[in-house]
Amino acid sequence: MSTVPVRLTVNGETQEAEVEARLLLVHLLRDTLGLTGTHVGCDTTNCGACTVHLDGEAVKSCTVLAVQADGAEVKTIEGMADGAKLHPLQEAFWNDHGLQCGYCTPGMIMAAADLLQRNPDPSEAEVRKGLEGNLCRCTGYHNIVKAVLDAAKTGEGGTVAVPTPSQQGAESAQAIAQEITP
Ligand code: FES
Ligand code: FES
Repeated sequence: MSTVPVRLTVNGETQEAEVEARLLLVHLLRDTLGLTGTHVGCDTTNCGACTVHLDGEAVKSCTVLAVQADGAEVKTIEGMADGAKLHPLQEAFWNDHGLQCGYCTPGMIMAAADLLQRNPDPSEAEVRKGLEGNLCRCTGYHNIVKAVLDAAKTGEGGTVAVPTPSQQGAESAQAIAQEITP
């Protein structure tokens, strides 16, 4: 089967791969690059578990072909912590128990970061509206919304700075990312 070369930046690191034209971005991230913090809940654009940032905007990566991400900047949950320091959204989800099984959590955090980038001081209704594309099968919405509102209070909930490769590769950040994204 013929393949297509793609080159993209993921969490600050350049990645190159040969992919089938039909390969979805979520499978490139998970299966080729080993970034399994991005989850697959439905594969049909319904659940939001696969949400990542593509050129700074939240997208459902099961709805984007890997070839469409050629030349783009991608941010996944693994790139949200700053070294050993959790992202304010991760900290807030931790503190507010904004997760139960955790399956939806990476997508929730990536969608919430996008929301807070665009609206740093949202109302509860705006958070609920902003996360309507993300489903929690444990139905833990109350604490998820509380966590996003608490992250907003830090004034840094929408921060999604691209880490340096040395930060991105830090073992401590990987450990934390895995701990908060089962
Ligand atoms: Fe992409 Fe559900 S796996 S929206
Ligand atoms: Fe289980 Fe949301 S915490 S799916």
